[in-house]
Amino acid sequence: MENFEFHRPTAYYFGAGRENEAGNIVRALNKHKVLIVFGGSSCVKSGLLSRVQQSLASAGIAYVTKGGVVPNPRADLVYELIDYGRREQVDFVVAVGGGSVIDTAKATAIGIVNDGDFFDFFLKKRQPQDTLGLGVVLTIPAAGSEGSSSAVIQKEIDGHFYKCGLSSCFNVPTFAIMNPEVTKTLPPYQTACGAVDMMAHVMERYFTNTPDVSITDRLCEAVLCSIVETVPRVLREPDNYEARANIMWAGTLAHNDTCGVGREQDWATHALEHQLSAIYDIAHGAGLAVMFPAWMEYTMAHNPMRFAQFATRVFGISMDFEEPKRTAKAGIIALRNFFKSIGMPQNFADIGAREEDIPQMLKLLGVDQHTIGHFVPLNRDDCEAIYKIAARYQG
Ligand code: NZQ
Ligand code: ZN
Repeated sequence: MENFEFHRPTAYYFGAGRENEAGNIVRALNKHKVLIVFGGSSCVKSGLLSRVQQSLASAGIAYVTKGGVVPNPRADLVYELIDYGRREQVDFVVAVGGGSVIDTAKATAIGIVNDGDFFDFFLKKRQPQDTLGLGVVLTIPAAGSEGSSSAVIQKEIDGHFYKCGLSSCFNVPTFAIMNPEVTKTLPPYQTACGAVDMMAHVMERYFTNTPDVSITDRLCEAVLCSIVETVPRVLREPDNYEARANIMWAGTLAHNDTCGVGREQDWATHALEHQLSAIYDIAHGAGLAVMFPAWMEYTMAHNPMRFAQFATRVFGISMDFEEPKRTAKAGIIALRNFFKSIGMPQNFADIGAREEDIPQMLKLLGVDQHTIGHFVPLNRDDCEAIYKIAARYQG
């Protein structure tokens, strides 16, 4: 196991009705004026936004509110929110929404207290030095942003959409309120996209070159098994609180690094996918459903035994001791079938992506200068080959 430091200061308030505690939680942090950020209409329609506002008001916390975050969130709104937050002299940010809203709130909280263009941090030109701080009221289990140190924002530069991530301790939320009830309004497609994303977060950590990491292997497998078992139940019974609750906590464990400490992590598939959601404005989870099996097929030969372990422990496939590669391949097929069974796309055509755009994807990835991923470092030719597998796969 590699040496590691693990500091996750997020306080989780999990369960039905916990959003009504938002005001008291913020007051205990000695904050006085909050910028509430939300997305489209879902939290307005469900009444969640007004419950959060009411809770703040009852606790004597002033607030201003701004919505309009779209999936694959844009830098333009972050600039607006930074100005707005500074003008209103807020001292805290609260995100009511999913990954896109939370990441917008993270970038805003950093942008308000750091001079210069916030997007420089996402372009890795410099590092943020502080944050105003943020709390989260989560509405969709998926991105895991409620417990992660990352944020992902998209910006159009010279006619190209750059979807860039920032990893920083200043991105870690101070608190996350997680009420599974509020996820009952999620459409099946968004529920499934969220499940794929959380599985991808675990698998980015699972496929590692670090030997002897059985504790985190087993944690990864537990989270994956639970998702595979529970998602079909959530899709069959969208109002099932217990199923929704299990999926919600799985999404957090998948990405707050509980499953990833002490081991090399990969993250090539996320980089490959971000170009798809940037160019075609598709859901991140849908893009991952297309890209992850393609990445697995391409890299399997590097360590078939690890893929065979995945197949046996996550999908219950019997081990072929004479030919472990067969078991490894069966695991990839099982993953593809699972994604298909929950209504996820299988190839480029299913998400409206085009093979002729692959050169553009490679350009945005920046793989002319460097490789991506760690399990198998991928150069331009490797990335091109993986995109082609994803483009041409026929289920
Ligand atoms: O805008 P509203 O009306 O709320 O609708 C949203 C949106 O259309 C809807 N939704 C959310 N909660 C709902 C609901 N609809 C009904 N009922 C509810 N309770 O869901 C749609 C998608 O929302 P979004 O926030 O975009 O989803 P998600 O949480 O999947 O976030 C995706 C973004 O997070 C980034 C992705 O790249 C993408 O931009 N990621 C962020 C990460 C991080 N910060 O750690 C890691 C991830 O790997 C990922 O890259
Ligand atoms: Zn993801």
